[in-house]
Amino acid sequence: MFAKIEHGPLMDRVYRHQRHFYDATRKYYLLGRDPMLAGLTPPTSGSILEIGCGTGRNLVLAGRAYPKTSLYGIDISNEMLATARKKIAAAGIGDRATLAYADAAKFEPEAILGRREFDRIFISYAVSMIPQWQAVMREAINHLTPGGALHVVDFGDLRDLPAFARRGLYKWLEWYHVTPRNDLFDVAGEIALAANAQAEIHRLYRGFAWISVIRRHA
Ligand SMILES: C[S@@+](CC[C@H](N)C(=O)[O-])C[C@H]1O[C@@H](n2cnc3c(N)ncnc32)[C@H](O)[C@@H]1O
Repeated sequence: MFAKIEHGPLMDRVYRHQRHFYDATRKYYLLGRDPMLAGLTPPTSGSILEIGCGTGRNLVLAGRAYPKTSLYGIDISNEMLATARKKIAAAGIGDRATLAYADAAKFEPEAILGRREFDRIFISYAVSMIPQWQAVMREAINHLTPGGALHVVDFGDLRDLPAFARRGLYKWLEWYHVTPRNDLFDVAGEIALAANAQAEIHRLYRGFAWISVIRRHA
């Protein structure tokens, strides 16, 4: 079913070696992930899905912060999933975590994770790497329980950086196949409106990181 994915091999190429030092280096510039996790506040025994879970760093922290929740993660890179599986086992949360290989742009959670709806879905620094990110966010809303929420954290518009620094950063991000989504809040607002849901916006670190939250009514 997933044999034709071309984005997957690309992500594997990007992360094959990087995954070994990914968490140690990314903590300096994938900002806003911890505030996003703190804001999840799922129901006590609720379910949490991360789309593009990478090394599993966020799922481990979510597992610690929300100790009775069920955790789910998907990623299009088998290399990243291998690291995530190890990290999750080492953190002792393997019994309540389910990981699967999937393309966020066309995945059926019920088929691969055994669950159709989640109390919280989050996407951390992956909308900037997924070409079909708008469709992924739109579809994620359909997989929220009533009262559930989608949290997205990613690069902001960097508008407070000096122009030369912004240009340099964009160039550097391009090498990693990362495109900041400057229209994230507009798109989230449109998605929320169409789904009769509530959109919230949070600008952090002078616009370096943005968090978008879309909450479904209970
Ligand atoms: C920059 S990393 C972020 C990892 C993690 N979410 C974090 O915050 O540390 C982006 C992740 O998204 C995954 N990814 C990219 N495109 C994807 C897609 N179409 N479907 C699922 N995962 C995808 C990549 O393989 C990678 O693991």
